[in-house]
Amino acid sequence: MTASSSTVLGLQWGDEGKGKVIDLLAAQTDVVVRCQGGANAGHTVVVGGRKTVLHLLPSGILHEAADCVIGNGVVVDPLELAKELDQLAAGGCVVEGPRNRLTVSDRAHLVLPCHVALDAASEAAKGAGKVGTTLRGIGPCYTDKASRSGLRTGELRDLTTFERRLREHLAHTNRVLAGVYQAAPLDIDAQVARYLPACRRLAPLVADTTGFLHRQMAAGKRFLFEGAQGVLLDLDHGTYPFVTSSCTGVGGIIAGSGLSHRQLGQVIGVVKAYSTRVGGGPFLTELPDPQGEILRKRGGEYGATTGRPRRCGWLDLVAVRFAGRLNGVDAIALTKLDILTGEPVIPVCVAYELDGRRIDTIPSRLDDLARCTPVYESLPGWAESLAKCRKRADLPANARSYVERIEAITGIPVGWIGVGPGRDEVISETAAGAALAEAA
Ligand code: GDP
Ligand code: IMO
Ligand code: MG
Repeated sequence: MTASSSTVLGLQWGDEGKGKVIDLLAAQTDVVVRCQGGANAGHTVVVGGRKTVLHLLPSGILHEAADCVIGNGVVVDPLELAKELDQLAAGGCVVEGPRNRLTVSDRAHLVLPCHVALDAASEAAKGAGKVGTTLRGIGPCYTDKASRSGLRTGELRDLTTFERRLREHLAHTNRVLAGVYQAAPLDIDAQVARYLPACRRLAPLVADTTGFLHRQMAAGKRFLFEGAQGVLLDLDHGTYPFVTSSCTGVGGIIAGSGLSHRQLGQVIGVVKAYSTRVGGGPFLTELPDPQGEILRKRGGEYGATTGRPRRCGWLDLVAVRFAGRLNGVDAIALTKLDILTGEPVIPVCVAYELDGRRIDTIPSRLDDLARCTPVYESLPGWAESLAKCRKRADLPANARSYVERIEAITGIPVGWIGVGPGRDEVISETAAGAALAEAA
């Protein structure tokens, strides 16, 4: 175990506030690594009131001293990456150049124009049963990876051969779009002309990141592994088929970086003080509007990637406990506690009831899940602002009890508490967290 390294995972349906936690920890980190997912992620970092949303780039990129790595498990869209690099450069954060701070794995798969088209066609064909994907081509790209027909960044070394394979891939996709989905074909020349310049820009950033990471680890560098999405969106353990197409837990970090489980350091699970979900799929504690709308408005719950309104509901501790157990989570970083200020009573879901029986975990089948009802415990709220709280003792008594109840039900200590979006708006009690973990 590497004591000074950390792994950050979302323990709900994504958008827990991972970006902020990673930005905080990156200040004491040498290498930040993204390991799975792609530009479906939207990680927000707020520094000095200025908001940056990162999709493909690791959220440690704003710390000039950190080296950032996009690992082999990430699916990379060169067009999205170029857009993001331009946006950062316009804000004064230069990544490429003599002190290049980004390396992309030569084993990472490329999100091709065909993948984005197929994502849209497949969602349209599903109609009301659609997953509600981010339409970033993630599912089709991982499908090609698994069926061994994808293109990887390493192939950008020979752009002539790459262009030929890209054209073949586009021609094949056009047959699928026409034959399976009755959708319009892609203009192959136009797509190649749009895509290749971004590939040329990406090519010099591509390297054997596995070897690089092994050397950095041997040199005693501090690592930060950045999870994307959330454990309930995991391809295996999430609410299938309403999930993303990668492993969003520690398994994805290991497979997607080329490092071992011994090197993950402490595993931090990010939990929002209530629940949100974007897209389709079961959500037991969802609040119907207008109650949900109150949380949405107060919490600014609109997708960082797609701008879609997020579905909102109470905290589901059955889901959080399940996600924590799956990943050996050492400590919780609790975010957005400030958003609950003003609620007179705050229900938290502590169990489910299925066909008259109380259960304490998530059933795998959607039809069972559809028959579950949440069992709530009602906790008293607080009216005071949390904005100035910097120690747990500063919190109103009921806010402290809320945090303690989360620790008791999940069995995981809370080491950080977010009281606002800014970098400094946090109660950091990692020492208390460690003591709690030892006592457990
Ligand atoms: P991620 O995908 O897990 O990184 O989360 P997102 O960036 O998609 O969404 C989290 C949102 O919550 C962002 O707008 C953050 O700026 C904001 N945020 C994070 N932590 C806190 C907090 O403790 N309080 C408040 N009010 N906002 C927070
Ligand atoms: P971050 O990293 C929230 C959801 C989509 C959809 C499902 C599948 O910001 O937490 P996909 O495009 O991956 O095929 O969509 O997963 N989804 C996310 N929801 N936060 C994310 O990332 C998400 N990434 C994917 O809304 O329901
Ligand atoms: Mg997000």
